[in-house]
Order: sequence, then C-alpha cells, then structure tokens
Amino acid sequence: MKRVFTLVCCLVLLAGLPGGCAVQAEVPAVESEKKIGNPIVVGFSQVGAESEWRVANSESMKSALSEQNGYELIFDDARNEQENQIRAIRTFIQQDVDYIVFSPRVETGWNSILQEARDANIPVLVIDRDIEVVDRSLYTAYIGSDFRKEGDRAVAWLEKLLSEQGKSEDDIRIIHIQGTLGSSAQIGRTAALEEGISQHTNWQLIKQEQGDFTRAKAYEVMGTILQETRDIDVVYCENDGEALGAIDAMEEAGLKCNADDGVIVISFDATRLGLTYCKEGRIALNVECNPLQGPYVAEMIQKMERGETVEREKYIDETLFDCYSITQKMIDERGY
Ligand code: AHR
Repeated sequence: MKRVFTLVCCLVLLAGLPGGCAVQAEVPAVESEKKIGNPIVVGFSQVGAESEWRVANSESMKSALSEQNGYELIFDDARNEQENQIRAIRTFIQQDVDYIVFSPRVETGWNSILQEARDANIPVLVIDRDIEVVDRSLYTAYIGSDFRKEGDRAVAWLEKLLSEQGKSEDDIRIIHIQGTLGSSAQIGRTAALEEGISQHTNWQLIKQEQGDFTRAKAYEVMGTILQETRDIDVVYCENDGEALGAIDAMEEAGLKCNADDGVIVISFDATRLGLTYCKEGRIALNVECNPLQGPYVAEMIQKMERGETVEREKYIDETLFDCYSITQKMIDERGY
C-alpha cells in the first residue's frame, strides 16, 4: 500500500534509463499507484476525547481524510495515554501506512518512536499540539495552534478590561485551572498567564490546579478551592470544558460569573457552548483554538504526494470573542 517512491527509482535504473532521479521526480510512484485507484493510507493517533474541541478535531480529520477524498484513515483513540499513542504509531509502522499523523498528549517522549518511523521511511505530521524532539527533522511538519499567542491575547485583554474598570492598581485574585500538564496547550497558556502575573505586582495567583481539560475535573478542583476561599476576581481556565466545570461549581456556591460585577472567567477554544456562555456573560473572554485541522492535513499530504515542499510549521488563524461584542450570529456560524 505504501508509496514506494525509491522502488520506482531503482526499477528505472535497472531498466537502464538515464537520469534516474529526474525520472523519479517526473513519474513518482504515487502517480502510477493513484491511477489504479489505491487510497492514501493514513494512520492517525488521536490523543483522546476529553473535550468538545477534541471531538470536533476528530470529526474534521475523518471528513477531510475520507474514502471519498481518496484516503483510507486508520483512526486510533489513545484515551489520553501517551503509551497508547506510541503503541498505535508502532502499529502504523508495521502496517506500512503512507503517512502517520498524531496529536501528541504531551511535548516530550517521542524521539524513539519517531526514529522508528523515519527508519521505515514514513513521513510524520504532528497536529494540534507541538512536540520537543532532539532532531526536528524526525517529523515533516507541524499544523496547529500558537498556544502562547492565545495566552498572551487573554492576558492583554484582561489587562485592558481591568484598566477600563479603573482596577489597574487593585489587588486581583486569580485562580488558574491548567490543562493536561506537559501538553503544549497547557505550556503556552500557562506561560502567558505566569508572565502576566510577574508583570503586575497586584495580580495574585491564589491557586493553580490541574483540570485535565475536562469539565468534571475542573468542577471538582473548583469545588475544593471554594471551600478555602470565595474571594476570587478571575478564573483562568485552559479550555471551555474547564470553564464550564468551574462555572458550575461557582454558581452552585452562589457566586456570580460576570465581567462587570462578578468573577471574570477566561476560557480557550470558543466552542459553540463556550460561546453561548460568553453571550450570557458567564464566560467573559473566550480565545479561539481552531480544531478544524483536517483540511490543512489533507492539503499538506496532497502537496507531498505531488512532491512539493511543505511548510514546516503551519499555525492556524484564530480570533477571540468577549462578552461585550459576541453576537448570536457568531454562535450560529460555529461548526462545533
Ligand atoms: O490541544 C488543544 C486543547 O486540547 C484544547 O484547548 C482542549 O479543549 C483540548 O482538549
């Protein structure tokens, strides 16, 4: 099934034709195999199904890499375990797939398995979260979000809001609920908040807890925090699921979530439900993290099939929504 690019080159050379490499570029194996209708086989290791965002991301991959579009997608849900992802990637290598795509749970721990993929001559695309490897040429490209930029936008928005409210000098008590520790989504968004806190002596980090990017975990940790204090100005959640869980806990405890006269809740993702909370004023700011990455992956694979060079890093355009400017139309237009 795998496109045997080098095999064609060897066959050309064995046939005694001149300029093997030039021929290889002009008549790649992919072309001849496509003519007889072979699908492009893609092994995709998805980190899990921990959030609405993740479900939308899986759907986007499935619809872009569909049979109709000429793909055979082997989808594996790692249930939020890195070991499962490594096992799935190893299986893809054994299956001799054409491309491996994965959305890594965390940034580190990928060197050996990616070396195995390279030894098997299978190109690897990393999507959604980035990775840290000794040799960046172990994977072909990264397609995803600039999480640090997302966090910086949230911090800048908060700074502006507090200034407009005349609270630039007030003590601001912040609760921080983090995503999966070690994931680039957590690392970037956390780094932005921590830098914001270090630059504002009146911003106080009251609690920093892990919410696993899930509504249930955030509800649990927020409930525990509320037993210790109700004196809270800002809750910075690293995704919509966490924001919803934290809001559930705060509202149950009688706290109001509202940017003007309550707790300021900041969130990331901007799912339809997250935006609905934003319009209701319960989420003050929702920074978009776009899960619709399937078409970008398909486009990149098509370029590689044509032998074209691809961008090493593709950051998807993202925006932000706040409770003051969001409209119902924006929510209705949301695909996830
Ligand atoms: O890596 C992207 C993050 O992971 C999203 O913010 C979150 O919802 C998801 O689970």
